[in-house]
Amino acid sequence: MLKTKIHTRELSHCIYNASGVYCCSENDLNLLNNYNVNVGAVLSKSCTLQSRVGNPEPRYWDCDELSINSSGLPNLGYDFYNNYSYKYNFSNYNKPFILSIAGLTEQDNLYMIENLNQNYIDGIELNMSCPNIKGKSQTGYDFESTEDLIRKASEILDSKYSKDFIFGVKLPPYFDEIHFNTVSEIINNSSVNAITCINSLGNGLVVDTDSESTVIKPKNGFGGIGGSVIKPIALSNVHTFYKLTQCSIIGCGGISTGKDAFEHILCGASAVQIGTQFYKEKHSCFRRIETELKQIMKEKNYTSLDDFKGKLSYLT
Ligand code: SIN
Repeated sequence: MLKTKIHTRELSHCIYNASGVYCCSENDLNLLNNYNVNVGAVLSKSCTLQSRVGNPEPRYWDCDELSINSSGLPNLGYDFYNNYSYKYNFSNYNKPFILSIAGLTEQDNLYMIENLNQNYIDGIELNMSCPNIKGKSQTGYDFESTEDLIRKASEILDSKYSKDFIFGVKLPPYFDEIHFNTVSEIINNSSVNAITCINSLGNGLVVDTDSESTVIKPKNGFGGIGGSVIKPIALSNVHTFYKLTQCSIIGCGGISTGKDAFEHILCGASAVQIGTQFYKEKHSCFRRIETELKQIMKEKNYTSLDDFKGKLSYLT
């Protein structure tokens, strides 16, 4: 009922983890691959060329409606993730393995893309939107750098990898038509075939009134905002990129129930990722959200995602 495709790759169902939450260590990844954990794919923590410990703690905080994080890309380094997939041969688990890449420089990104263990990795999600590295802007807001990186990455992917390889990009939220149009044009002139909308809303600030202080330590309390409050922005980005490109859209942002997942798919998402709610509820969230989504579909007599994917109607 929930089976789907990202680009040409089939997923047994459409819900999986967002990069960053419980997908960093070998143990994390093993758990996501466990047959008891109902995810349609496994996505790694965004990796840099060298391992990183990330920003000082506390670097995550949440309440009912939102989360704020400034993790600073803690990860075990590219070689670990590239070799992990080889070691375990993910293809046996029937859960595509997608490597999230977040190089600190364009050169690092291109090196990582060029040297993927392609027999064991089904695709990449090129993270162009991490807001939490001090002194480094989000690539996705610099359109010249975005165009340059995507063009060079496309050249490598076209020459080295199969046509079925997932070339995904994870974008920051956009808020204006000119930005949607510019980024869509860059993507439409490239080999990108999947878009994850959206990363957290960068550089938010949460204040604790009792202590009159920030709630996280890095960057004077500034961090990426996730959770329910960002769902309307996520939906507008999902829907716009669904309309403006031919890519598979992966919805991310504010999904904590089956109803949220339904809305993302209605707006055009082929699959959805769970971040903040996964952090709060751990692995049981996947089965619960799946059950709730199936219930909504049953009530509406929908038997597959194609019955409603992208079919949002407009008031006239
Ligand atoms: C982080 O590690 O700071 C989060 C990564 C991201 O938001 O892309």
